[in-house]
Amino acid sequence: MSQEKQISRRSFIRQAAATGTAGVAVPYFVPGSALGGQGTPGANDKIGVGLIGCGGMGRANLRACAGRPDVVVTGACDIWKPRRDAVVAQHKDTAKGYHDYREMLESRNIDAVIIATPPHWHCRMAVDACEAGKDLYLQKPMTLHVAESFAVRNAVRKHKRVCQIGTQIHAGQNYRRVVEFVRSGKLGAISVARTFNVMNQGPNGIGNPPNSDPPPEIDWERWVGPGPMRPYNPLLVRDAYNNCSFMAFSGGWTPGMAPHIVDLPVWALDLGYPSVTYCSGGRYVIKDAGDAPDVQEVVWQYPNFTMTWMMSLVNSFAFDFGRGTPARRLGIYFHGVNGTLYANYGMHEIVPEGDFLKDAEPPEQSIPPSPGHEREWLDCIRTRRQPSCSPDYHCKIDVPICLANLSMKLGRAVRFDPAREKILDEEAAHLAVPEYRSPWKFPRQYI
Ligand SMILES: NC(=O)c1ccc[n+]([C@@H]2O[C@H](COP(=O)([O-])OP(=O)(O)OC[C@H]3O[C@@H](n4cnc5c(N)ncnc54)[C@H](O)[C@@H]3O)[C@@H](O)[C@H]2O)c1
Repeated sequence: MSQEKQISRRSFIRQAAATGTAGVAVPYFVPGSALGGQGTPGANDKIGVGLIGCGGMGRANLRACAGRPDVVVTGACDIWKPRRDAVVAQHKDTAKGYHDYREMLESRNIDAVIIATPPHWHCRMAVDACEAGKDLYLQKPMTLHVAESFAVRNAVRKHKRVCQIGTQIHAGQNYRRVVEFVRSGKLGAISVARTFNVMNQGPNGIGNPPNSDPPPEIDWERWVGPGPMRPYNPLLVRDAYNNCSFMAFSGGWTPGMAPHIVDLPVWALDLGYPSVTYCSGGRYVIKDAGDAPDVQEVVWQYPNFTMTWMMSLVNSFAFDFGRGTPARRLGIYFHGVNGTLYANYGMHEIVPEGDFLKDAEPPEQSIPPSPGHEREWLDCIRTRRQPSCSPDYHCKIDVPICLANLSMKLGRAVRFDPAREKILDEEAAHLAVPEYRSPWKFPRQYI
């Protein structure tokens, strides 16, 4: 960028900011790309952020960005009008409402987007955002299919976008301390990590309201988008908790929770991809409007190491993590020769193997605190570095989760070549590439 352009940009912003403080009812921001920054805000520009999917999580992510002095909310997109209008009303001086996310992606006032739609949309929207030159905060689960995972990662790489996946617990202090302890070697050789998320929705699950016509304020055709067309049901659209019971639109509770939980062993042990994935499970008890499994047990094989995942919607017993009243319980166990470390989001504890554990003192802290998951993303938008949960990193979480659902669907183990990033089974490899409902197309050019 020429010096002349930089100078005029700065003075423009000073002037505009002054206008804003004088109380004139015009937007006082200038998002980076509007000033010709080729989709990359300069040091003095505000980052123009747009939200795609104005449900609870998207609004929370937006709130975490909107209060910052270097951010301006310039767009809100939802195919559910009152939800979209509510966000636009909160940012009425600066934000425009959009029904079609592709139109929002064309806007020069948008530098970066938060994608918080139901998961079956994530890959298509993320790739479109990359192609439009926007940076992206993409909610978990990153995707629902192995091919989608690689498509998102490769699109982010190709278009040099900054992307953070929305696994915000990664930014917490507890995970940092666990990673330091595991890496200190005090637990000895770790051969198994067990991960789990269990709860008890009872036999009736989330309930069974009948399918109906969609309310006029929801564009049902566009909500379903690339997913298989099906009748509207109020539980599908209520929020991610209820949506997780519908397989085609969420992948169930394994993609629903495992991204946060499997993150810890992948981080602490620097895991690559598993070479074999086996998942057993099904819908054994629950009878509700959904169709996702209520039990899943997954085994992932790595070199000299095995990781497991336990998911239940019909029993919430969780060993040392609590018992008695049904509740959502989650955790991670690292089993070493010298002891076991178990952790959840907010605590961790070390259980020695008798005298084998010589030193249970926490090692010196070495991982710096996060400025916050969204803040880290915003900082990276300026520095053009990838945040801690970029797709390059998060693929090591997303791909195994997608492989687990694939294995359950096939009823057999799925073998994967980590070096070539290829599924070694023709039928499984075929099923790993989703068919989108027309006119939406899976972006095959990225795999
Ligand atoms: N990180 C976390 O801890 C966490 C917690 C909850 C949810 N989530 C994730 O966040 C995402 C959203 O969850 P939620 O609970 O807010 O769900 P939600 O169903 O309440 O919100 C999703 C919104 O997307 C909108 N939408 C659907 N199709 C659209 C389209 N084509 N264009 C624009 N908008 C569209 C819906 O109308 C809805 O308003 C999910 O991926 C979920 O897994 C993450």
